Amino acid sequence: LSGMPWDKFQAMSLEEKGRRLASAARLFHVLYAQQFGRAELDRLGSLATTIRFVAKTEGGARFLHDLLPHRRAMLYFSQPSTRTFLSFCAACEILGLGIGEVRDTATSSEFKGESKEDSVRTFSSYFDLIVMRTPMGGLAERMAWILSNSDRPVPIINAGSGKDQHPTQALLDVYTLQRSFERRGGIDGKRIVFVGDLARGRTVRSLAYLLTNYSDVDLWFVAPPQLQIGADILEQLDRHGVKYTLTDDLHGAIPGADAIYMTRVQDEWDSEAGESARIDTSRFCLLSKDLDRMKDDAVIMHPLPRRNEIPTEVDTDPRAVYWRQMRNGMWIRSALIASQFGQDDRIREYAAEHKLHPVS
Ligand code: NCD
Repeated sequence: LSGMPWDKFQAMSLEEKGRRLASAARLFHVLYAQQFGRAELDRLGSLATTIRFVAKTEGGARFLHDLLPHRRAMLYFSQPSTRTFLSFCAACEILGLGIGEVRDTATSSEFKGESKEDSVRTFSSYFDLIVMRTPMGGLAERMAWILSNSDRPVPIINAGSGKDQHPTQALLDVYTLQRSFERRGGIDGKRIVFVGDLARGRTVRSLAYLLTNYSDVDLWFVAPPQLQIGADILEQLDRHGVKYTLTDDLHGAIPGADAIYMTRVQDEWDSEAGESARIDTSRFCLLSKDLDRMKDDAVIMHPLPRRNEIPTEVDTDPRAVYWRQMRNGMWIRSALIASQFGQDDRIREYAAEHKLHPVS
């Protein structure tokens, strides 16, 4: 992004922006799902698995921990987070990075009127990576542009921006799908059914885009009409020739699904009090009685946190993978950070030398 005027950058489509980021010699900013192509998704998934195997052994864990002790990450989370925050902390610890955090802007100089831009530049003085989650759509992108055009460019990872993007969640979701369908020919040809608040769920928006990288996927969007997926995402699916179905009939969607991706109502985005409460979402829950109608080898996913859309009885069904999905976040985020700091080859070499699976 350096040397590119902001206006010109802003005028580009998301896919053009994605291509621009993907053209760098090495992964730097992580801002949009649109920057990841199939080869990169395969590479990151395989690296995450390698890290997972290396981290299992005591020597391997020590090796990983010694990779980046000279680097520090700033976790700037001005929006609630448990999993994303903790998994980034864990990923940094696995790779030996030090961590700083701001989770409440009331405790930072933003409270004294400092602009977000100045705050982020301040972080870049002390840290080598900034992971940020904010309620403002587009903020991570703006910060990345500012830093790339400063004298201390440090990478930004978008850990959730507004209602628009959550690329690292989409990466962990793809990694979960890769693992779930490992022995069934991979993600190609699978039917993924998204359920819930698809209008304001940024995880669905980012994941739906990542799935355009796979052939013959069939996406179903199951939501009440008011919460149905945005036209901008459908346009992107059309451009990539991805088949999709919009419906409000979860019952009818269950038997054909290879993966059911449940989401909660995102009522923190309501434009007036009670807006979501007026929508009948009771039909968008996956109940124990639905399990018999699912394929035996289908998987149930959820980015979490959940509310009532998956009752806890479902957790013990072997097809419920959402807890594993959450743990996958730690591995894929480790793979991302290792790649940003150019440590991927070293990790692969270590795994090969010590015959830790997989070595490819
Ligand atoms: C999601 C988010 O923040 O968008 N949570 C997460 O990162 N796992 C989903 C949600 O909040 O519903």
